[in-house]
Amino acid sequence: MKDQQSRANDTYGKLALQQADSTVISGRPLSTKGCEPLILKDIFSKLEIKKESKILDIGCGCGELTHLLINQSHELDHNLTLIDIPQVIEKLKKEINQDLLVNLNFIEGNFPDDLKQSVDKDYDKILIYSVLHYVNNPEDFIYKATSCLKPGGSLLVADIPNINRKGRFLSSHHGRSFEANYRGTSINEIPSFKNQFDYISKVENTNKMLTDDLIINIFKKLRSKNFEVYILPQQEDLPFSQTREDLLIKKNFE
Ligand SMILES: C[S@@+](CC[C@H](N)C(=O)[O-])C[C@H]1O[C@@H](n2cnc3c(N)ncnc32)[C@H](O)[C@@H]1O
Repeated sequence: MKDQQSRANDTYGKLALQQADSTVISGRPLSTKGCEPLILKDIFSKLEIKKESKILDIGCGCGELTHLLINQSHELDHNLTLIDIPQVIEKLKKEINQDLLVNLNFIEGNFPDDLKQSVDKDYDKILIYSVLHYVNNPEDFIYKATSCLKPGGSLLVADIPNINRKGRFLSSHHGRSFEANYRGTSINEIPSFKNQFDYISKVENTNKMLTDDLIINIFKKLRSKNFEVYILPQQEDLPFSQTREDLLIKKNFE
C-alpha cells in the first residue's frame, strides 16, 4: 500500500492537471468558496507579515489562496519562495502574470528530503497551511522547517487537523448538530461518541498521527531549544475552525 505522502502527491498532482475549481484544487470543499481572503488575513495577522520580508510557503498549492498571497507579496515587495510538487508548480507558473514573477522563486518536490534544489536558511516568515496531515513524518517536517528560519523569524503551521480536537468537538451535542447542519442531514444520521477517545478508536480513513500528544511533544522539544511556541485557535469564520488549530513557532535571537 502507498504511504501517505505518495497518496497526497497523486491526489494533488491529478487535481492540478484536471483544471479543478480554484478552491477545490487546494483540498477545500466548494461550499467554503470565498473563504480565502479571510484565511490570508488570519495568516498575515498571526505571522505579523511586514513589507520586504523573505517568505517561504511550503505546500503552497495552486488555488485561490496562493494567488492572493502572490499578489499581496508583490505589493509588499516580498521575496517569496513557493514549494510544491512539480504539477502544482507548473500550473502556477502558467497562470501567474509575468509581472508578478519578479521576486518569486519556485522549488519543486516534497519538503524536506525530496526537493530539486536546496532551501535557504534565512527566511523571515514560513507558512505551512493545511499540509501537515499529508506528510509521512510530521515532527521531522516541522523541525526541518524551523531550520530554515533566521533568528527572529516565525513559522506558522496552520490548519492542523488534530484528531483529539476533532473528537472533543464531535462527541459533544453542539458538534454533532453542527456536523448535521454542515452535511445537510438530521442529527440522528451523525454517529454519537462517548468522548474523544471513543471517536478516535472508531473513526476510519483519517490521519491519526496528528494528536494532542504529538503537538505537545513538538511544543516541548522546540521550547527546550531556542524557540517560543504557541498553540493558537482559528478565527470562527474560517472553514474548519471548530476542528483545527495552528502552531506559531518563533526562533529567538542568539
Ligand atoms: C490541502 S493543499 C493546501 C495548499 C495551500 N497551502 C492552501 O492552503 O491553499 C496541500 C498541498 O500541500 C502539498 N504538499 C503535501 N506534502 C508536501 C510536501 N512534503 N512538500 C511540499 N508540498 C507538499 C500538496 O501537493 C498540496 O498542494
